[in-house]
Amino acid sequence: MKENYDRYVFVGLLLTLALIIGVGAAFAQEDSRLKEATLKLNKANVLHGRQLYVDNCTSCHGTRGEGIVGPALNNKTLLAKASDEVLFATIRVGRPNTTMPAWGQDNGGPLTDEDIRYIASFLRAWEPTAPEVKVDVVEPSAARGAAIFAGSCFTCHGDEGKGTKTAPAINDVVRLKKLDNEWYRQTIANGRPAKGMPTWGTVLSPNQIEDVVALLNAWRAGERVVPETTVAELLDSALFSLSQGDKEDAAFYLQRGKVIAFGPALARFDPIITLVKNDNLNQGLTDLGKLRNEWPIGDAKNGATIYSDACKGCHGGDGQGGVGRKLKPNEFIQQSNNAEMLQLVLSGRAGTAMRSFSGRLTEAQLADVIAFLRTWQP
Ligand code: HEC
Ligand code: HEC
Ligand code: HEC
Repeated sequence: MKENYDRYVFVGLLLTLALIIGVGAAFAQEDSRLKEATLKLNKANVLHGRQLYVDNCTSCHGTRGEGIVGPALNNKTLLAKASDEVLFATIRVGRPNTTMPAWGQDNGGPLTDEDIRYIASFLRAWEPTAPEVKVDVVEPSAARGAAIFAGSCFTCHGDEGKGTKTAPAINDVVRLKKLDNEWYRQTIANGRPAKGMPTWGTVLSPNQIEDVVALLNAWRAGERVVPETTVAELLDSALFSLSQGDKEDAAFYLQRGKVIAFGPALARFDPIITLVKNDNLNQGLTDLGKLRNEWPIGDAKNGATIYSDACKGCHGGDGQGGVGRKLKPNEFIQQSNNAEMLQLVLSGRAGTAMRSFSGRLTEAQLADVIAFLRTWQP
């Protein structure tokens, strides 16, 4: 339980709660909520939605929905594929294991269902004029699938999919061999709400469902899969736990982060763990926040080599720019802390040639590149 208690599990936890209260009732209610989601695109709703969008979404999705760290939403392909229910549900519960937060009040966010409907109406109103935005094809990854499983499925299906009293084992080679990927894809996307298996097609992105299917493939072959996680994510979880006053979870995440952390910042984990354990929570929160903003701290010398392999082609050997922006010097870099730089390089900029380096470079390699880019700033 504890291992996965972070904000990305919110969905899983809520669903567990729903189970305790009574699955049938909870999911029937959820279904009728979704049916109500059909949007009314009158001018007042759209204008109201626009204001809410400006207040809450532009920092990640851009003022015109062109995408920044979040994908472009002003995108014909995306809007054509996403039904009203999917838009509504995505905004309401967020996307587990990504930086897309949950906005619905039931999921710990600030917005009412009505607000969310206004925003979804505003997004929908883009559809007739939206440009086609090309999106990077991402190879499915079993390790990412395992991280999603640990966040959203494990509460019911158990550690490594071995099953619990609530839900059957998924990691069952005999059964996995009987059924094909398409069957699993459909079962996961549609769920079986009446039997307590939630509908994941409105929560996970199609790419995330493919990651889970890749995990099932690995399990079918009898492999063990270690969930992909980063120190940055563990620090986020620790910060979240500590901000909720949960010092045991915070210490737990810090311990785990320390195991995979690297570079000079490694020495800063133990003192923070001690602060937390000694109930010095305010100082702990301050130091942890600082560490989070400065993480990841890498080695500029290694970074130069990685830059010339992965970035030079677009940004130029001397950072003079080309297809990509000029990086020597560059205001974005000067104004961003390491956490923000990491986020940019991990996500890329949707709709531009600046692609996501998630899964292509490790966290340590990204740290080194970021350190290298800093040497170009005054
Ligand atoms: C902190 C950054 C952040 C903020 C703020 C944010 N989003 Fe997102 N959003 C993301 C990311 C990242 C994704 C992509 C998640 C993924 O990889 O599936 C996303 C995905 C989405 C999607 C699904 C797109 C798709 O490809 O299927 C929708 C819809 C969406 N966001 C709407 C919103 C709305 C509406 C708001 C404001 C209420 C908002 N987001 C605020 C980061 C953010
Ligand atoms: C709230 C509890 C709950 C959560 C969370 C949950 N499931 Fe389930 N799941 C169930 C139950 C209960 C069943 C059995 C339904 C039935 O009896 O038909 C099930 C069945 C399944 C099945 C069919 C198994 C079979 O062999 O017939 C698959 C596949 C599955 N779940 C995958 C997932 C995945 C992947 C996730 C996470 C994205 C997930 N589940 C999250 C409760 C849950
Ligand atoms: C295929 C071309 C391409 C590659 C490879 C590439 N970039 Fe970019 N990068 C771009 C483009 C284009 C932009 C500008 C995006 C935009 O218009 O917002 C950009 C923007 C950036 C920015 C933001 C600059 C600003 O002023 O907003 C940074 C930082 C950056 N890239 C770093 C990197 C790093 C580090 C690598 C290697 C790991 C890399 N890029 C690889 C094309 C590329």
